[in-house]
Amino acid sequence: MLISPSIIAADLSAMGALVREMDPAVVDLLHMDVMDGHFVPNLTFGPAYIKNCAAHTSIPMDVHLMIMDPEASIERYLEIKPWCVTIHYESTRFPARLLQLIRGAGIRAGLALNPATPVEAAFDLCEYADLVLVMSVDPGFYGQKFMKGAVGRIKRLAGFLEREHHDREVIIQVDGGISLENIGEVAAAGARCLVAGNAAFAGGTVNSNVAALKKRAI
Ligand code: DX5
Ligand code: ZN
Repeated sequence: MLISPSIIAADLSAMGALVREMDPAVVDLLHMDVMDGHFVPNLTFGPAYIKNCAAHTSIPMDVHLMIMDPEASIERYLEIKPWCVTIHYESTRFPARLLQLIRGAGIRAGLALNPATPVEAAFDLCEYADLVLVMSVDPGFYGQKFMKGAVGRIKRLAGFLEREHHDREVIIQVDGGISLENIGEVAAAGARCLVAGNAAFAGGTVNSNVAALKKRAI
Protein backbone atom coordinates (compact mmCIF):
# COMPACT_ATOMS: atom_id res chain seq x y z
CA MET A 1 0.00 0.00 0.00
CA LEU A 2 1.28 3.43 -0.96
CA ILE A 3 0.39 6.36 1.31
CA SER A 4 0.39 9.88 -0.08
CA PRO A 5 0.03 12.63 2.57
CA SER A 6 -1.91 15.62 1.27
CA ILE A 7 0.02 18.71 2.27
CA ILE A 8 -2.97 21.08 2.23
CA ALA A 9 -3.79 19.64 5.65
CA ALA A 10 -0.51 21.16 6.98
CA ASP A 11 0.87 24.69 7.41
CA LEU A 12 1.83 25.57 3.83
CA SER A 13 4.20 28.33 4.99
CA ALA A 14 6.35 25.78 6.87
CA MET A 15 6.51 23.10 4.22
CA GLY A 16 10.28 23.07 3.56
CA ALA A 17 11.10 22.05 7.13
CA LEU A 18 8.12 19.70 7.37
CA VAL A 19 9.02 17.90 4.17
CA ARG A 20 12.66 17.48 5.27
CA GLU A 21 11.45 15.65 8.40
CA MET A 22 9.54 13.09 6.35
CA ASP A 23 11.29 9.75 5.97
CA PRO A 24 11.32 8.59 2.32
CA ALA A 25 11.40 5.00 3.58
CA VAL A 26 8.00 5.54 5.21
CA VAL A 27 6.26 8.29 3.24
CA ASP A 28 5.83 6.95 -0.30
CA LEU A 29 4.53 10.06 -2.09
CA LEU A 30 3.58 13.68 -1.46
CA HIS A 31 0.07 14.54 -2.61
CA MET A 32 -0.17 18.04 -4.08
CA ASP A 33 -3.75 19.36 -4.29
CA VAL A 34 -3.81 22.06 -6.94
CA MET A 35 -7.10 24.02 -6.72
CA ASP A 36 -8.06 26.95 -8.92
CA GLY A 37 -11.08 28.48 -7.14
CA HIS A 38 -13.12 27.56 -10.21
CA PHE A 39 -13.30 23.77 -10.65
CA VAL A 40 -13.48 23.71 -6.84
CA PRO A 41 -14.29 26.67 -4.56
CA ASN A 42 -10.90 26.61 -2.82
CA LEU A 43 -7.61 28.04 -4.11
CA THR A 44 -4.23 26.54 -3.19
CA PHE A 45 -0.95 26.67 -5.15
CA GLY A 46 0.59 26.02 -8.55
CA PRO A 47 3.70 24.51 -10.15
CA ALA A 48 6.26 26.90 -8.62
CA TYR A 49 5.25 25.91 -5.09
CA ILE A 50 5.38 22.18 -5.93
CA LYS A 51 8.84 22.65 -7.43
CA ASN A 52 10.02 24.40 -4.25
CA CYS A 53 8.71 21.56 -2.06
CA ALA A 54 10.32 18.93 -4.29
CA ALA A 55 13.70 20.60 -3.83
CA HIS A 56 13.61 19.64 -0.11
CA THR A 57 13.00 15.90 -0.48
CA SER A 58 13.51 12.78 -2.57
CA ILE A 59 9.87 11.75 -1.97
CA PRO A 60 8.12 11.74 -5.37
CA MET A 61 5.38 14.28 -6.09
CA ASP A 62 1.82 13.06 -6.69
CA VAL A 63 0.05 15.98 -8.40
CA HIS A 64 -3.77 16.16 -8.24
CA LEU A 65 -5.08 18.88 -10.54
CA MET A 66 -8.48 20.22 -9.49
CA ILE A 67 -8.49 22.91 -12.14
CA MET A 68 -10.70 23.68 -15.14
CA ASP A 69 -9.23 23.11 -18.59
CA PRO A 70 -5.94 21.58 -17.39
CA GLU A 71 -4.66 21.59 -20.99
CA ALA A 72 -3.92 25.31 -20.57
CA SER A 73 -1.23 24.81 -17.91
CA ILE A 74 -0.37 21.10 -17.89
CA GLU A 75 3.09 21.60 -19.42
CA ARG A 76 4.26 23.49 -16.34
CA TYR A 77 3.39 20.49 -14.13
CA LEU A 78 5.04 18.03 -16.50
CA GLU A 79 8.28 20.03 -16.34
CA ILE A 80 8.59 19.22 -12.62
CA LYS A 81 8.78 15.51 -13.56
CA PRO A 82 6.44 14.31 -10.80
CA TRP A 83 5.61 10.67 -10.07
CA CYS A 84 2.11 11.20 -11.43
CA VAL A 85 -0.13 13.96 -12.80
CA THR A 86 -3.84 13.37 -12.27
CA ILE A 87 -6.53 15.28 -14.14
CA HIS A 88 -10.27 15.28 -13.43
CA TYR A 89 -12.66 13.59 -15.84
CA GLU A 90 -15.10 16.47 -15.18
CA SER A 91 -12.59 19.25 -15.89
CA THR A 92 -11.93 18.74 -19.60
CA ARG A 93 -13.67 17.65 -22.79
CA PHE A 94 -10.53 15.81 -23.91
CA PRO A 95 -9.36 13.49 -21.12
CA ALA A 96 -7.99 10.84 -23.51
CA ARG A 97 -5.77 13.34 -25.29
CA LEU A 98 -4.53 14.80 -22.01
CA LEU A 99 -3.72 11.41 -20.53
CA GLN A 100 -1.70 10.57 -23.61
CA LEU A 101 0.11 13.91 -23.37
CA ILE A 102 1.09 13.18 -19.75
CA ARG A 103 2.29 9.70 -20.66
CA GLY A 104 4.18 11.04 -23.64
CA ALA A 105 6.21 13.13 -21.18
CA GLY A 106 7.24 9.92 -19.40
CA ILE A 107 5.00 10.54 -16.37
CA ARG A 108 2.22 8.36 -14.93
CA ALA A 109 -1.14 9.57 -16.20
CA GLY A 110 -3.92 9.72 -13.60
CA LEU A 111 -7.67 10.14 -14.12
CA ALA A 112 -9.80 11.33 -11.16
CA LEU A 113 -13.53 10.82 -10.76
CA ASN A 114 -15.80 12.86 -8.49
CA PRO A 115 -18.29 10.92 -6.31
CA ALA A 116 -21.12 11.98 -8.67
CA THR A 117 -19.38 10.49 -11.72
CA PRO A 118 -20.05 6.75 -12.18
CA VAL A 119 -16.74 4.81 -12.19
CA GLU A 120 -17.95 3.20 -15.41
CA ALA A 121 -17.18 6.54 -17.11
CA ALA A 122 -13.49 5.70 -16.74
CA PHE A 123 -13.68 2.25 -18.30
CA ASP A 124 -13.04 3.33 -21.90
CA LEU A 125 -10.19 5.59 -20.77
CA CYS A 126 -8.31 3.03 -18.67
CA GLU A 127 -6.03 2.06 -21.54
CA TYR A 128 -4.62 5.60 -21.44
CA ALA A 129 -4.35 5.75 -17.64
CA ASP A 130 -1.74 4.43 -15.20
CA LEU A 131 -3.80 5.44 -12.18
CA VAL A 132 -7.50 6.03 -11.51
CA LEU A 133 -8.33 8.24 -8.55
CA VAL A 134 -11.67 7.45 -6.92
CA MET A 135 -12.73 10.51 -4.90
CA SER A 136 -14.39 9.56 -1.62
CA VAL A 137 -15.42 13.18 -0.88
CA ASP A 138 -16.42 16.05 -3.13
CA PRO A 139 -13.07 17.73 -3.86
CA GLY A 140 -12.13 21.14 -2.48
CA PHE A 141 -11.29 20.75 1.20
CA TYR A 142 -9.48 18.38 3.53
CA GLY A 143 -11.01 16.96 6.69
CA GLN A 144 -14.32 15.87 5.15
CA LYS A 145 -16.13 12.67 6.03
CA PHE A 146 -15.49 9.55 3.91
CA MET A 147 -18.48 8.73 1.66
CA LYS A 148 -19.30 5.05 2.20
CA GLY A 149 -20.48 4.61 -1.39
CA ALA A 150 -16.83 4.82 -2.43
CA VAL A 151 -16.24 1.21 -1.31
CA GLY A 152 -18.66 -0.17 -3.91
CA ARG A 153 -17.18 2.14 -6.54
CA ILE A 154 -13.64 0.87 -5.83
CA LYS A 155 -14.85 -2.74 -6.05
CA ARG A 156 -16.56 -2.15 -9.41
CA LEU A 157 -13.44 -0.50 -10.81
CA ALA A 158 -11.14 -3.20 -9.40
CA GLY A 159 -13.34 -5.90 -10.95
CA PHE A 160 -13.22 -4.20 -14.34
CA LEU A 161 -9.44 -3.77 -14.23
CA GLU A 162 -8.98 -7.41 -13.28
CA ARG A 163 -11.17 -8.54 -16.21
CA GLU A 164 -9.92 -6.15 -18.89
CA HIS A 165 -6.46 -4.88 -17.91
CA HIS A 166 -4.84 -7.78 -16.05
CA ASP A 167 -1.75 -7.56 -18.29
CA ARG A 168 -0.57 -4.31 -16.64
CA GLU A 169 -1.18 -2.49 -13.38
CA VAL A 170 -3.57 0.44 -13.26
CA ILE A 171 -3.25 1.79 -9.73
CA ILE A 172 -6.48 2.55 -7.87
CA GLN A 173 -5.96 5.62 -5.68
CA VAL A 174 -8.55 6.82 -3.16
CA ASP A 175 -8.74 10.37 -1.82
CA GLY A 176 -10.92 11.87 0.91
CA GLY A 177 -11.64 11.05 4.53
CA ILE A 178 -9.21 8.12 4.81
CA SER A 179 -8.68 7.19 8.48
CA LEU A 180 -7.43 4.39 10.72
CA GLU A 181 -11.05 3.26 10.98
CA ASN A 182 -11.83 2.84 7.27
CA ILE A 183 -8.42 2.12 5.71
CA GLY A 184 -8.73 -1.69 6.07
CA GLU A 185 -12.02 -1.78 4.19
CA VAL A 186 -10.75 0.55 1.46
CA ALA A 187 -7.61 -1.56 0.98
CA ALA A 188 -9.64 -4.78 0.85
CA ALA A 189 -11.88 -3.26 -1.84
CA GLY A 190 -8.86 -2.99 -4.15
CA ALA A 191 -7.16 0.38 -3.50
CA ARG A 192 -3.35 0.43 -3.90
CA CYS A 193 -2.61 4.06 -3.05
CA LEU A 194 -4.34 6.18 -0.42
CA VAL A 195 -4.26 9.92 0.10
CA ALA A 196 -4.27 11.09 3.71
CA GLY A 197 -4.77 14.73 4.71
CA ASN A 198 -6.13 14.94 8.20
CA ALA A 199 -4.98 11.41 9.08
CA ALA A 200 -1.36 12.31 8.24
CA PHE A 201 -1.08 15.82 9.70
CA ALA A 202 -3.54 16.19 12.60
CA GLY A 203 -1.37 15.51 15.67
CA GLY A 204 1.76 13.37 16.01
CA THR A 205 4.42 13.18 13.32
CA VAL A 206 3.75 12.44 9.68
CA ASN A 207 6.20 9.51 9.79
CA SER A 208 4.41 7.81 12.67
CA ASN A 209 0.91 8.58 11.34
CA VAL A 210 1.74 7.12 7.93
CA ALA A 211 3.36 4.05 9.52
CA ALA A 212 0.21 3.49 11.60
CA LEU A 213 -2.03 3.80 8.54
CA LYS A 214 0.09 1.28 6.63
CA LYS A 215 -0.11 -1.20 9.46
CA ARG A 216 -3.91 -1.06 9.39
CA ALA A 217 -4.09 -1.35 5.62
CA ILE A 218 -2.86 -4.93 5.53
C1 DX5 B 1 -9.85 16.98 -1.43
C2 DX5 B 1 -8.39 16.73 -1.67
C3 DX5 B 1 -7.81 15.72 -0.75
C4 DX5 B 1 -7.80 16.13 0.70
C5 DX5 B 1 -7.64 14.92 1.57
O1 DX5 B 1 -10.27 17.95 -2.32
O2 DX5 B 1 -8.21 16.27 -2.99
O3 DX5 B 1 -6.52 15.34 -1.19
O4 DX5 B 1 -6.78 17.03 0.98
O5 DX5 B 1 -7.74 15.28 2.92
P1 DX5 B 1 -8.47 14.32 3.98
O6 DX5 B 1 -7.71 13.04 3.99
O7 DX5 B 1 -8.39 15.09 5.26
O8 DX5 B 1 -9.90 14.13 3.49
ZN1 ZN C 1 -6.30 15.24 -3.60
